[in-house]
Amino acid sequence: MEDFRPRSFDEVVGQAEAVRRLRRISAAVRRGLIVPPSLLLAGPPGTGKTTLVRALAREILGDEYSNSFSEVKAFQDRSARRVEQIILESRKAPMRGAPFRIIFFDEAESLPPDSIDALRPAMEGEGGATLYVLACNDLERLSPALRSRCTLLTLDPLTTEDMRNLIGRALERTSFSLDEGEVASIVERSNGVPREAIKLLLEEAAAWRRRPDPGTAPSS
Ligand SMILES: Nc1ncnc2c1ncn2[C@@H]1O[C@H](COP(=O)(O)OP(=O)(O)OP(=O)(O)O)[C@@H](O)[C@H]1O
Ligand SMILES: [Mg+2]
Repeated sequence: MEDFRPRSFDEVVGQAEAVRRLRRISAAVRRGLIVPPSLLLAGPPGTGKTTLVRALAREILGDEYSNSFSEVKAFQDRSARRVEQIILESRKAPMRGAPFRIIFFDEAESLPPDSIDALRPAMEGEGGATLYVLACNDLERLSPALRSRCTLLTLDPLTTEDMRNLIGRALERTSFSLDEGEVASIVERSNGVPREAIKLLLEEAAAWRRRPDPGTAPSS
């Protein structure tokens, strides 16, 4: 699955509005014009939130991506104590070549209330210029305190045309092919969700490998 994840904005399919805004933000950062406000990417699972955040971090941080970008996932310790530590660590001067550090809190709707309290001042830029990026699946469940401190970018399921394009690009990275009917079936079953389409494509690939090689099949 990871092999199919776009690394740059150019490789992202659809999500034109979010990509346009993220490109503008990263261009302004690189020209030294702004430290962006905290960002919030909202959209259904598998539509490109993590992908876009990583692409943004690569654009802004370049070679310092691995030193200056960190992800805080829902399964990790996100107690108030740990979040305070993360905030403190992010205030260390970034590596040469990086304008600031970027911290990505995934599944922000599941952050505990006291961790949110710890984050609030930091997200407003108190104490340093770290860029905080949040992702959530369900805006309704996100703390209004976090929501109101972020610039919102909404991701939607992709159109049928974009899904065909996505599958076409993914197939170019494999050594197998699908006929039109098989592509149409994946488009239909994945309901505009790229992760779902890649998963179905990998299932087809597994089945394809199991097909007997006509050259070696025993004749009856
Ligand atoms: N817009 C897109 N263009 C191309 N590929 C995409 C796009 N969105 C998602 N994908 C594919 O789907 C996979 C999952 O996407 P991603 O991890 O970015 O989803 P997510 O929105 O972060 O999901 P979750 O809410 O579960 O964290 C990626 O590895 C990539 O292969
Ligand atoms: Mg994600």
